[in-house]
Amino acid sequence: MASNFMIETDRLMITEFRAEMAEQVHLNSLDEDNRKFVPDEVFETVEEADGTIRFLMECYQGTEGPFVYPVLLRSGENIGYVQAVPVGDQWEVGYHIAAQYTNHGYASEAVMAFLPAIMDRLGIERIWGICREDNVASRRVLEKCSFELQSQGTGMYHGQQHGICKYVYSLKE
Ligand SMILES: CC(C)(COP(=O)(O)OP(=O)(O)OC[C@H]1O[C@@H](n2cnc3c(N)ncnc32)[C@H](O)[C@@H]1OP(=O)(O)O)[C@@H](O)C(=O)NCCC(=O)NCCS
Repeated sequence: MASNFMIETDRLMITEFRAEMAEQVHLNSLDEDNRKFVPDEVFETVEEADGTIRFLMECYQGTEGPFVYPVLLRSGENIGYVQAVPVGDQWEVGYHIAAQYTNHGYASEAVMAFLPAIMDRLGIERIWGICREDNVASRRVLEKCSFELQSQGTGMYHGQQHGICKYVYSLKE
């Protein structure tokens, strides 16, 4: 995977992690929705965020991922991330926008710009979006980004049984 990933949209920049982002990544990760829906991406300390960021920076050099990119406002504020994570021999998209920045369309704007770029880099034509049934905001993001619901049912999600929705986004029909 080539380095220096950078996507610019009208309001956002999607770029690579740098070590100095650890404190903001820690703070962003603490909100209620993230604790509820993505508990294993909550960093209780700056040190924990720092360790993860350093690991993710190393991943940029490889081909196996995960490929996680911070999302910044054009003013430079770090508001969350988008990611592509391997699931078996396929890939899943993920995202978080910190609570104080939600409901402004930032996740949808970031994901829409991220999909063609990351799918091109990974050489894939489809990518999964998997979320809890009750994660209404996340489902809405996937739907706004042209994902299609493939299946809905009970299954394991972050170590617990939940209703789960599996969406897929395809470049080709
Ligand atoms: C899911 C998340 C990324 C959404 O970020 P965001 O920047 O607010 O997303 P957007 O503004 O692009 O879109 C959110 C949509 O959900 C809708 N929404 C949010 N909460 C809602 C609710 N409780 N009921 C109905 N719709 C809701 C918004 O109205 C918006 O839809 P609209 O544009 O049609 O009005 C953010 O809430 C988050 O990070 N949550 C915690 C982490 C997470 O769940 N990640 C996904 C794991 S699968």
